[in-house]
Amino acid sequence: MQLTLRPQNRVLRMESGRPVLESALAAHVNLPHSCKGGNCGSCRARLLSGTFHYPRGRPLGISAAEAADGYLLLCQAIPDGDLVVEARELRRVTDVEIRSLPSRVERLERFAPDVMGVFLRLPVVEDFRFRAGQYLDVMLPGGRRRSFSIASPPHDAGLIELHVRRVSGGEFTVQVFEQLGPGALLRIEGPLGQFVYREPADPASAGPMVMVAGGTGFAPIKSMLRHVLETGLRRPLHFYWGARHEVDLYQRAWVEERVTRFPELRFVPVLSMPSGDEASRHRTGLVHDAVRADFPDLSAAEVYAAGPPAMIAALRATLPAQGLPAERLYFDSFAYAPDVPARS
Ligand SMILES: Cc1cc2nc3c(=O)[nH]c(=O)nc-3n(C[C@H](O)[C@H](O)[C@H](O)COP(=O)(O)OP(=O)(O)OC[C@H]3O[C@@H](n4cnc5c(N)ncnc54)[C@H](O)[C@@H]3O)c2cc1C
Ligand code: FES
Repeated sequence: MQLTLRPQNRVLRMESGRPVLESALAAHVNLPHSCKGGNCGSCRARLLSGTFHYPRGRPLGISAAEAADGYLLLCQAIPDGDLVVEARELRRVTDVEIRSLPSRVERLERFAPDVMGVFLRLPVVEDFRFRAGQYLDVMLPGGRRRSFSIASPPHDAGLIELHVRRVSGGEFTVQVFEQLGPGALLRIEGPLGQFVYREPADPASAGPMVMVAGGTGFAPIKSMLRHVLETGLRRPLHFYWGARHEVDLYQRAWVEERVTRFPELRFVPVLSMPSGDEASRHRTGLVHDAVRADFPDLSAAEVYAAGPPAMIAALRATLPAQGLPAERLYFDSFAYAPDVPARS
């Protein structure tokens, strides 16, 4: 069976019974992907011809409307015959080199009871270039990996900042909270991902940039905010941060300090499970509902969203009805990666 990739007209062989993405990666064609579990939507591509099937039904990472529009998830799609698919290779889109590097933990900072700031120093001789919003993989034994968004911006890459939320029973994150200390070595691979800040052709006349974070989804948003604010780009920025409680808005003071300095930045924290008197001080409900209420017309906007798969799914399901073109919803879904060896 043959896979043709447009627009580059690249042709490669697919193995019968194997997901399209696996065949492409085996042929060293690095198509966008992340969770490989049908959850995150990163491997979404457009089918131009041919037929395929999903062994376990339509995956969570693709809506019924997207499927009807001819999109498919390459990590789950099993080809029934030759396919022609529109998909771009990762390296061409991000235009940065993916590297595997040793890093040393410089310091750890407890941002909240269950969120740890991890600051990594890379070898001085290595030039680690990335774009605001990208993530890296921390390598675990056996070639397994865990993804973490880079919270520092490209112009300040001396220390790489990560925000790690503790997952009860989680292999890596429990280790971060209980064992990891300054000086520890971590092998990382990156930068990865297509969730990157894209500068509009004319920032002065660009529509609003709406950023939506859920929990530690703040990490890539912080990188973008710092990139935009600290490199002198000027455009209206609306940052919505969804969390359960006030304490989960773990770098709120950092954001509020920027709001006082940069009049173009607006900050809206939204609590989904307010306790005590939190409701009297905050917007409450789900963060995607707050965005919908505040922006009845998103036709000129760009939305950047990062966080739990459920939040991303809710945004993808609802914002197009507010006029947001699908290609202007950029997202990174923090899906829990299956323990698979190297992804690229
Ligand atoms: C592109 C991308 C970027 C990411 N960026 C970040 C980031 O910046 N910060 C961050 O904290 N995380 C981020 N994640 C998630 C992160 O990669 C890990 O999946 C997460 O930290 C858990 O790793 P672990 O080894 O501790 O848990 P694992 O050992 O992988 O998980 C143990 C068990 O818990 C389950 N599980 C894991 N998490 C949860 C949960 N929240 N609720 C319920 N069950 C769960 C798993 O399915 C598994 O059964 C990102 C994920 C992706 C795909
Ligand atoms: S890589 Fe296919 S949905 Fe995540």
